[in-house]
Amino acid sequence: MRLNIIILLVSLSFTACKNSPEQKTNSAEMYEASELSETMRTMVDFSKQAKTSLAEGKHIDSIPAEIWEMAKATGTRDEHLESDFQTLAGPYFEALRGIERGDSQSYYYRKSIDACKACHSRYCGGPMSIINKLD
Ligand code: HEC
Repeated sequence: MRLNIIILLVSLSFTACKNSPEQKTNSAEMYEASELSETMRTMVDFSKQAKTSLAEGKHIDSIPAEIWEMAKATGTRDEHLESDFQTLAGPYFEALRGIERGDSQSYYYRKSIDACKACHSRYCGGPMSIINKLD
């Protein structure tokens, strides 16, 4: 029984990035989400709101400050220290800068979601279903 629990905990910590937040809410107390995971959740919330605003013809006024720190946030597997991760973060920030400039927010919003997909096809593919809904 005890061994099962240990195995469960170990496998949870290794598959954390494969689960969607919905699936994880039950087990959220069992491990601490990394700084990077927290930032990713903020990015999901921001993107959802941005998508709704654009659909309603509204302007996206602000980007949560935390998101600009994404590339410095500590990942569960220290992804933030990998050069692939830093390279893939570039296009995401470029898209955000486009949104911030406010020229064509719909265009740059799409670019931002493309950047999520590009990084997630290299790093943990689990959240892809969440990302696809942001298209
Ligand atoms: C530069 C790479 C990169 C980009 C860009 C990126 N992600 Fe992530 N994402 C990751 C990594 C790595 C993790 C795993 C973090 C961890 O487990 O510490 C992650 C985790 C997640 C998670 C799971 C969070 C959780 O609850 O544990 C979601 C959801 C997510 N990303 C959505 C997105 C969305 C939406 C975007 C675009 C707006 C995006 N990601 C852009 C690399 C990226």
